[in-house]
Amino acid sequence: MSGRYARIASTGSALPPQVIPNAYFESLVETSDAWIVERTGIRERRFAGQGESTATLASAAGQAAMQVAGTAPETIDLMIVCTCTPERSIPSTAAFVQSRLGLSCAAFDLNAACAGFVYGLSVASAQIRAGSAERVLLIGAEVLSRVLDMTDRTTCVLFGDGAGAVVLEPSDEPGVIDSLLALDGRQAELLTVPAGGTGEPVTHEAIAQRRNLLRMLDRQAVFKQAVVAMADAAREVLDKAGIDPSEVSAVIGHQANARILTALGRRLGLDPQRVVIDIERVGNTSAASIPIALDRAWRSGRLKPGDIVLTAAFGAGLTWGANVMRWTAPSPAGDGGG
Ligand code: ACO
Repeated sequence: MSGRYARIASTGSALPPQVIPNAYFESLVETSDAWIVERTGIRERRFAGQGESTATLASAAGQAAMQVAGTAPETIDLMIVCTCTPERSIPSTAAFVQSRLGLSCAAFDLNAACAGFVYGLSVASAQIRAGSAERVLLIGAEVLSRVLDMTDRTTCVLFGDGAGAVVLEPSDEPGVIDSLLALDGRQAELLTVPAGGTGEPVTHEAIAQRRNLLRMLDRQAVFKQAVVAMADAAREVLDKAGIDPSEVSAVIGHQANARILTALGRRLGLDPQRVVIDIERVGNTSAASIPIALDRAWRSGRLKPGDIVLTAAFGAGLTWGANVMRWTAPSPAGDGGG
């Protein structure tokens, strides 16, 4: 395979320092550390504190990714910030991140909820392959804690805040081999923040009814569909690329629930060792979860140049997708991540 492809040169991540253990929720709702650990695999997550936001976390992750590969800001000619918890509705989160990082490139937000990074990797790779961009900074960043309903035990215990980033550059060989993206908008109401957009502006009444906060209508339906859709997308993208599942070294799935990831690995017939489960200390960070897990796996030596890496994600929309890539980032020299 030769031509023009995109490859990951480096990764970075950033987590807010404030650790929220499961016990925190025991005083808010009827729940327990034991229930949360058993049903989700989560022990703690990070919540943004005062002065921290999607843009500050995104910038810190972007900075870490650029720093570890010695990427000069002026060589980045496109930045994409994947998020469903933007800094503001106008302007884009990317505007704030661009100025914080001292970039001068084109930049935009991408919202595909928890599948944001999978979508972003496909778009960034296509931009490089087409010759429209040379070096892309792709970030997934979320502050979900600010849209959680702390009276709803079925959602408030699941999510955390954080950001992850990758720098992509052109290469003669992949790199990113292929992607598959999907959306079923008929199920848009299943997982949503109803108020706060143009369809339903925030009013006192909406706030009183907690319609400005995240709600999940049918969690088991989401769970089941997540496993099936991610496995189908993963299989399809591997088929398209002519890669057998047995060749996959690491599956970095969206970290929504450890049981979903275990079931995904089983459905793909993979050795459980190959499924990266990185939810215990961070919870579900939506579009940030895959780049955070990628960064942590890379820095811990779990990902080596030449490895076939599969990503798969599923989230609100309902949206889902998968990417397959050959890992290309050399082992990191220092630790610039969070
Ligand atoms: N503590 C204690 N009990 C709880 C809690 C809690 N935090 N949450 C729910 N329960 C109760 C339920 O009320 C239910 O009690 P009942 O039988 O008396 O009604 C019981 O526990 C079992 O509930 P289930 O919903 O069946 O539990 P399940 O094992 O399915 O786990 C979970 C729930 C963790 C939410 C799971 O369904 C899940 O992970 N769903 C998918 C989430 C996901 O993938 N989201 C997509 C991405 S998010 C995005 O895009 C923004």
